[in-house]
Amino acid sequence: MSEFRVTSISKIHAEFSVPGDKSMSHRAAILGGLSNGTCTIHNFLPSEDCLNTLNAMKALGAEYEVIEELAGYGPTHLRIHGQSMQLKAPAKPIDCGNSGTGMRLLAGLLTGQTFTSELFGDASLSSRPMGRITIPLAQMGADIETLGEKPGCAPLRIHPATLSPITYEMPVASAQVKSAVLLAGMFAKGTTTVIQPAITRDHTERMLASFRVNTVQTGNSISIIGGQVPQACDFTVPGDISSAAFWLVAAAALPGARLTLRNVGLNPTRTAIITALNRMGARIIETPHQATGEPIGDIEVHGSKLKGTTIFESEIPNLIDEIPVLAVAAALADGTTVIRNAAELRVKETDRITTVVNNLRAMGGNVTEYEDGMEITGGSPLHAAEIDSFGDHRIAMAFAIAGLFASGETVIRNIECVNTSYPGFAHHLDAIRREKTMPSDFMLPTTRPS
Ligand code: S3P
Repeated sequence: MSEFRVTSISKIHAEFSVPGDKSMSHRAAILGGLSNGTCTIHNFLPSEDCLNTLNAMKALGAEYEVIEELAGYGPTHLRIHGQSMQLKAPAKPIDCGNSGTGMRLLAGLLTGQTFTSELFGDASLSSRPMGRITIPLAQMGADIETLGEKPGCAPLRIHPATLSPITYEMPVASAQVKSAVLLAGMFAKGTTTVIQPAITRDHTERMLASFRVNTVQTGNSISIIGGQVPQACDFTVPGDISSAAFWLVAAAALPGARLTLRNVGLNPTRTAIITALNRMGARIIETPHQATGEPIGDIEVHGSKLKGTTIFESEIPNLIDEIPVLAVAAALADGTTVIRNAAELRVKETDRITTVVNNLRAMGGNVTEYEDGMEITGGSPLHAAEIDSFGDHRIAMAFAIAGLFASGETVIRNIECVNTSYPGFAHHLDAIRREKTMPSDFMLPTTRPS
């Protein structure tokens, strides 16, 4: 399949689960591979991004066995054999595909090793800024060459180095930068501290705790003492709230809709999309389950006519990946929605300010573009258009949702990219489009290796 064809729907009455969380799956592969034994990971996300990280850990010595697979994609349940922090030199350059998280976290991990390694990615990743990690890592003593055509960009060649701990005040609110420095700090002698300008997703800190690696958090700063070996454990990855967000918006914006998403990650550093949609007039109820480590629960959505809102600056890091689909919600809402302080969007898989603004305009949306965001005046009907994802998974999926509310048939081209974060999206979209109601209609087929 190379395109989505979407027409409008009049009903959603559904209950299903979305695949595992992308951020947590990267981290589970990395910490599992560093641990001192065998770890079972349940509900791993078999997306291209996370499979690249899992295979990077394999290339560094941490073999894994598949227990169960999402048919046609890759492991959802696996056992990974940790190397007690003793990684081996990879035989060839490591492919990070499209993933900024994979490359930045692996760079943090590889910087304090005794061997040379190389990380590369696709055209999009090769144009994204790596200075944000090479600068703090260099302060720790890292020796990283940026080999890209664009200055400061991938491929990265990482030479052996002995790291010293630092205290680093991050200029951007980035969980990837925080995590890269903390992972490097695990290989430095002494205490490495990262200070964030605003709260960012805290999956690294929580997962380190699950693996019994101590960190100390005071306000916005996190410290780690190097040399602690992660203790092998089993980890269950909750459903990805960033994938859930597509259906949250579809149901929230459709009066009378009723949707339940089961077992979604409800980490408070990730749930601002729910807060924002509720402010827009949706009724979204979180029902947390008993859990340690990462909060998890069900989300129930009751749709209604939405109204515009202003996204607070403090919410931006919390819902940064959901902004494309939030912009679609804004175009469907009465009144004006303001999204500012979000210049980070320009250095994601695409420049997501430009791609969202242009695609919304193509569908009849009324949007003003700013250097750091956009203002959307919604309420006038959207119409079908031919939409390009520009190779960006979140753009492809956000505009598939827009197509569910537009007159005519919307065609979204260049959709293979959805596999970087949401294998099975096409199946769920098809079930929603056909107004299916049974949980079995949404089930993604799994297989077990014989
Ligand atoms: C991620 C952090 C975010 C987010 C990305 C995943 C992570 O990036 O956009 O999709 O897993 O740490 P930044 O932290 O760089 O904003």
